[in-house]
Amino acid sequence: MTKELNIKSFLGVPIITKSGEIFGTLCAIDTSLYTFQDKEVVLLQSMATFLSYFIELENSENLYRQLVEKSPDGIIIEKEGELLYANPAAAILHGVSNEQDLIGRNISSLLVSEDTFDNDQKIIKTCQQMNTVNVMERKLKQENGEFLDIEAMEQTLIYRGEPAKQIIIRDVTDKKKVEHFIHNSEKLSLAGQLAAAVAHEIRNPLTGIKGFIQLLKGSAKENHLYYDIIMAEVERVNEIVNEFLYLAKPEIPIVKKNDMVELIKEVIVLLNTQAILKNVKISIDVNTSTTLISCDRNQIKQVFKNIIKNSIDVMSKGGNILVSILKTGTKLVVIVDDEGIGISKERLSRLGEPFYTTKEKGTGLGLMISRKIIEEHNGTISFASIVNEGTTVTVVLPIAADRC
Ligand SMILES: Nc1ncnc2c1ncn2[C@@H]1O[C@H](COP(=O)(O)OP(=O)(O)OP(=O)(O)O)[C@@H](O)[C@H]1O
Ligand SMILES: [Mg+2]
Repeated sequence: MTKELNIKSFLGVPIITKSGEIFGTLCAIDTSLYTFQDKEVVLLQSMATFLSYFIELENSENLYRQLVEKSPDGIIIEKEGELLYANPAAAILHGVSNEQDLIGRNISSLLVSEDTFDNDQKIIKTCQQMNTVNVMERKLKQENGEFLDIEAMEQTLIYRGEPAKQIIIRDVTDKKKVEHFIHNSEKLSLAGQLAAAVAHEIRNPLTGIKGFIQLLKGSAKENHLYYDIIMAEVERVNEIVNEFLYLAKPEIPIVKKNDMVELIKEVIVLLNTQAILKNVKISIDVNTSTTLISCDRNQIKQVFKNIIKNSIDVMSKGGNILVSILKTGTKLVVIVDDEGIGISKERLSRLGEPFYTTKEKGTGLGLMISRKIIEEHNGTISFASIVNEGTTVTVVLPIAADRC
């Protein structure tokens, strides 16, 4: 190289980065013979040091960019309400495909203003240091109009030479679900203890009352109808007590192969009188020949009794309830469709919560117990609804193995 370029004099200074790596060499060359002076060596060394700073800066900028771009948390930068930067995670959380779609938008199209959801918002932590970091529970508005529970960490920074606000957005939906679950479990454990005590106190005298009514009815010459009504009412009390008792001390399930169609038909027979009274027609549509499931007969009947009863209850103007049974893969799917008043989105998420009821005489335990039973049978229960059109409850259960 020295020959090719006719280099006669050469001065080289290594460019060493902070981590000790040699990035390259900064050279001064001359085609004539020249003795470099000390001040020229010092100058070149200073230039090499200066260059190494630039390289460091470039590296750390790249690192920071990668951290921000690949962060699972959404990161946005806003100034006076206008979004200047958004990382890919922020775009995903908001529900748009490209983060560029967010740039230039107003922050209010993304984060719900602080007073809108006042009750849900709380400042978790405020560090009164050089930089104040506010961590707040807020709602993120999604492109489809839905809201996501988030934690927003706000901090001021200098962006492109100007003061701006960086907001780190963390999806806390799962955390909220766990909190909700724990809250429900606490309620449940309390309900269980209460149920055990109440059921014990009520069930014993009930058995006595039932026995004596039957005895009296046998010897009575008139008012037989009254005895039947008393018996029916006592049965209803008994049923409620049993439901409570199931919470406190679940019975050991007797698992056998059962035909789902048979179970549903038995439930329909049981509920048909109530349905007819309300002008409701219950039909069944079976689309598969494989309808056997391994289950506790009474428990599964209890589930569908509650689901169909719920449907009857919300169809004061009459209409149709359709129970469809079909197969997908190794699962049996039972869909109960009604034409009732439907359930709004906010209320839909509360289904299955203990004591959640909109009925005067409801206990609000039906769906909670149903969900528990279905989950114990390795199945799932889900709800979909359109207000004023109707509700669809879908229960999925494993089909019984050939041999069990
Ligand atoms: N098919 C449906 N259509 C509309 N709302 C429904 C439907 N099923 C359930 N719901 C709503 O969900 C609530 C809870 O139902 P759940 O079966 O758990 O309790 P409940 O029927 O009120 O009381 P119970 O313990 O006697 O069953 C109901 O009060 C009702 O508001
Ligand atoms: Mg119910």
